Amino acid sequence: MAAAATAHRTSTSSTFVSMAVVLVVAVACSLLPPSSGADACSSHTFSGNGGGRLYASCAALPRLGATLHYNYTAATNTVAVAFRAPQAKSDDGWVAWGINPSGRASMVGTQAVVAFRRANGTLAVYPTVLDSYAPSMAPAAPGDLAFPVSDVAAEHVDGKEMVVYAAVALPAGKGSKFTHVWQQGSAVVKDVPAAHPTTGDNVLSTATIDFSE
Ligand SMILES: *[C@@H]1O[C@H](CO)[C@@H](O)[C@H](O)[C@H]1NC(C)=O
Ligand SMILES: *[C@@H]1O[C@H](CO)[C@@H](O)[C@H](O)[C@H]1NC(C)=O
Repeated sequence: MAAAATAHRTSTSSTFVSMAVVLVVAVACSLLPPSSGADACSSHTFSGNGGGRLYASCAALPRLGATLHYNYTAATNTVAVAFRAPQAKSDDGWVAWGINPSGRASMVGTQAVVAFRRANGTLAVYPTVLDSYAPSMAPAAPGDLAFPVSDVAAEHVDGKEMVVYAAVALPAGKGSKFTHVWQQGSAVVKDVPAAHPTTGDNVLSTATIDFSE
């Protein structure tokens, strides 16, 4: 029973994944000048606040048109990431990316980095702990974090996408494979990200990733 259910879920989700990948590639190609080449993911370079950062690996994520660029250092068990996500509305809204160290494909328990534009026009970016389905979204105090997150920065590119940078000291003893969760929402109220849609891609935006690959 369990095996059959697992197989069914796998084949359904891989169909969705293939469709999403085709869409992401189609969108990425339509945005790129032809000279940029076919591999939009690995050829992406970061400018501006990104300071020309380069990442060895990249994954086109299967939901919400997002991309994760990453550098994994096994010796220190750390990963430097740049998470890129389109913004639902050009200048409003928020994006977030995080790791759920429990391994559950759920926002609850995820330690995330969230970014958005404040009412005064500056960018807010900070780690936050998603401790329920209605988390406060408040900046985490250092003692709240199950694993350290540093070098946090954000960049709003061409009014189209938000990039979140972070260095994560991965939880020890769990290897390099983790469940990650990402999200986007269209509203920020009084400098607090408001709830994202609770249907469709917004509740399916999680996957496992092996940072060593
Ligand atoms: C990622 O690793 C490459 C190769 O070691 C290095 O050149 C680059 O600066 C690293 N990027 C970040 C953001 O750490
Ligand atoms: C914008 O608001 C934030 C949060 O209240 C504050 O820390 C920052 O100094 C403000 N920046 C400007 C330029 O007003």
